[in-house]
Amino acid sequence: MSASGGGRKAASTSSADLVDLLARAVGAVREAAAFALDPGEELRVEAKAHRNDLVTQVDRGVEERIARQLEDTGIPLHGEEKHRIEDFEAYRGRAWVLDPIDGTLNYVSTHRDWAISLALVDDGVPVLAILADPVANRLYTAIRGRGAWVEPLMAGAAGADGAGGVGPRALEPVEDLPLSEGMVIAHYQLTQHAAICRAIETSRGMRCYGAAALEMAEVAAGGAVVYAQPLLQPWDVAAGALLCTETGVVLTRMDGAPFDVRRAGSLLVGTPAAHAEVLGHLCVAGD
Ligand code: IPD
Ligand code: CA
Ligand code: CA
Repeated sequence: MSASGGGRKAASTSSADLVDLLARAVGAVREAAAFALDPGEELRVEAKAHRNDLVTQVDRGVEERIARQLEDTGIPLHGEEKHRIEDFEAYRGRAWVLDPIDGTLNYVSTHRDWAISLALVDDGVPVLAILADPVANRLYTAIRGRGAWVEPLMAGAAGADGAGGVGPRALEPVEDLPLSEGMVIAHYQLTQHAAICRAIETSRGMRCYGAAALEMAEVAAGGAVVYAQPLLQPWDVAAGALLCTETGVVLTRMDGAPFDVRRAGSLLVGTPAAHAEVLGHLCVAGD
């Protein structure tokens, strides 16, 4: 399926509409997560652009299931595996943006740190976020201007937040910690980058989980002060971006340019203080 881009403008979304759309999207993600946790057959793994860029029948199945569940919202879907909106960079109006499995390499090899990441974007601005970490039994949600929440994905299931019956808990605004007080999450390619190395040395240590959406959520939830990545796609970042903005986490490109989820590119997120420090390291001449 594809929808044409450029110049379309959908009707604006009222607050009641958003709450309704969020409930539907959460239902679709919960159902897809149950399938991904137990697909009922052996995984079939294929490589895409290179040997570590993987796709399985579960990535495709999750996208199909969520696309079907959201079809009658009438809002087009931009997904990693199949459903594309042409010229998404210029797209105006509402769109669902879906990474059916973020962290497929983890899904296949370590069986944790993978996510289902779904966002509703309006004129390139994320207005709803639904981010499931099924192995941790955790569901993050956010509504633009109203906050972000975390709750168990499956009531009664085991996991980090798995106490049955626990409702959504609001994510507090992040504490504005400096680099020296927190962890830096960085893609392994950045360990060759002199400025990022200086930032890591200033920090309390480096982590890399291999799922961009969860790494953004980690900063939004206060578990790290910075996340840096050289190249990400809209489906990697759309939900995580809203979790960040709703908790006071700053997002830009690695050169400090404004961030637009519709365009692929680098990402630097952080507490205001740590983000400014890393940008300072990145701006030192000669890097
Ligand atoms: C990947 C993960 C990974 C990031 C890659 C992404 P995928 O997504 O988010 O952390 O480093 O750039 O492509 O391919 O597993 O959906
Ligand atoms: Ca993916
Ligand atoms: Ca991804």
